Amino acid sequence: MEALSRNFFLYLSKNQPLNKLANLYGIRMVKGKIVGGISFDQAIPFIRELNADGMSVTVDHLGEYVADPHTAVERAGEVVAALELIKEAGLDAQVSLKLTSLGLDISEELVRLNLRRILTAADRLDVMVTIDMEDSERCQKTLDLFQKLKADYQNVSTVIQAYLYRSNDDLEKMEQLQPFIRLVKGAYKEPKSVAFQEKRDVDTNYRKLIARQLDSGSYTAIATHDDRMVSFAKHYAFEKGIGKDKFEFQMLYGMRQQLQQELVKEGYKVRIYLPYGDDWYGYFMRRLAERPANIAFAFKGMTKK
Ligand code: FDA
Repeated sequence: MEALSRNFFLYLSKNQPLNKLANLYGIRMVKGKIVGGISFDQAIPFIRELNADGMSVTVDHLGEYVADPHTAVERAGEVVAALELIKEAGLDAQVSLKLTSLGLDISEELVRLNLRRILTAADRLDVMVTIDMEDSERCQKTLDLFQKLKADYQNVSTVIQAYLYRSNDDLEKMEQLQPFIRLVKGAYKEPKSVAFQEKRDVDTNYRKLIARQLDSGSYTAIATHDDRMVSFAKHYAFEKGIGKDKFEFQMLYGMRQQLQQELVKEGYKVRIYLPYGDDWYGYFMRRLAERPANIAFAFKGMTKK
């Protein structure tokens, strides 16, 4: 049943007509609950609120699988504008982005140019940019680009997904770059040729990757809502004498707020992933695929102002 609903929501996440309908009518349902609004300006009060509660933020301008080069260039410009606003407004925030929003599916040259433009601004403004990891078909290209750019830019990090068999090897290959890595379980539907299908196996691999990345001494983001994984990371770091300044917990906006606050009180760094933009539909469907209970609060929100 769980697998069925997951597959159903992942299927819906790629449905273009529904995406268009949602963009027109649905933002009220999700603003302030799982997204910050349709523009960066609308997200600023939410960022300030999180900062005031002792949490850092990473913002993500929603929008994936861009097929038109002009839109991809526009998207890069919007990311640069967001970086500038973060600095100007003195926000404790970073930026996350998806390479398919910058033209990964159009041409390697286009996405590289767009990224260089963004990372040049990020270094100038000293704001970190994290390249989100998308589906497994795009994983190698994403890691290749990340590794090339990491040689030239300081403020860039990326994501490793525990459901992929390859992830331990990927961390090993990148170790000499001492990368800032966000570790996640993985959000896409992947075949068993490339990814663990059982939750138990994903969890085992996730713990293994957390241990490996913490041991490496590189800064690590442990991005999960799972109490058992949070607890594992806390205990592992404590036993190995790894300081709280060497890692952070990351959670999605609107999820596990009590846990977020407890971690802050315990002195851990917590960063909230806050998406914004009118293209929020695919993101929303992936959250439902992970946890259909999320639908309850979303639909409740439809009747509220
Ligand atoms: P999982 O979904 O396995 O749930 C484990 C347990 O945690 C549940 O049984 C429940 O007890 C608890 N739980 C989970 N969600 C809850 C909720 N909303 N409320 C209450 N309890 C809950 N993926 C990707 O492929 N590429 C990426 O770049 C990113 N980036 C990213 C950034 C950040 C900051 C986060 C938090 C996540 C991502 N992800 C991602 C998504 C990630 O891969 C994964 O799909 C989700 O985080 C869900 O997995 P969890 O580890 O949270 O627990």
